[in-house]
Amino acid sequence: MDTSRDPLAVLRIEHEEIRDVLNKLDGYLKKIASAGSDEDRNNIINQLNEIISFMDKDLEVHFKKEEEALFPVLGNYIGVETGPINVMIIEHSHCRDLYAGFKLKINGYQSDKDYKSIINAGSSLSQLLLEHEDKEDHILFNMAEMHLTQEEKREIMEKILALK
Ligand SMILES: [Fe+2]
Ligand SMILES: [Fe+2]
Repeated sequence: MDTSRDPLAVLRIEHEEIRDVLNKLDGYLKKIASAGSDEDRNNIINQLNEIISFMDKDLEVHFKKEEEALFPVLGNYIGVETGPINVMIIEHSHCRDLYAGFKLKINGYQSDKDYKSIINAGSSLSQLLLEHEDKEDHILFNMAEMHLTQEEKREIMEKILALK
């Protein structure tokens, strides 16, 4: 199956994009920690907008592609209520909560100047999300490769394209 028509290949490529953004985020967090002045720190915190717009849109759509297109079909083989899909759904929810907290800290920064909380929230999010995408790449997607038929992959791909 051509890569652009294979849902698992598409999701794996998105994982690479997510890793690139998390790398950038880690770089920003280090710079925030080592900033020499309030002005420098302000400037770097403003640059987090780039990360925010990716997570608001692309990360959320990525989660939906898994939750609404992949998981229901793969769930026919390995279950949704328990097991790895259930763990992935719980982690999506945990990531969304951590992300909401991270945004709150960024928005509150102008009044509380609490940059350490931005760093803590951003690091927790980054760590969980990295571990999550690794589990999908190395465990869940391999199970999907084992079970899904070409027809099911086509069906998942159609749903993914509709979520763009
Ligand atoms: Fe996921
Ligand atoms: Fe994923």
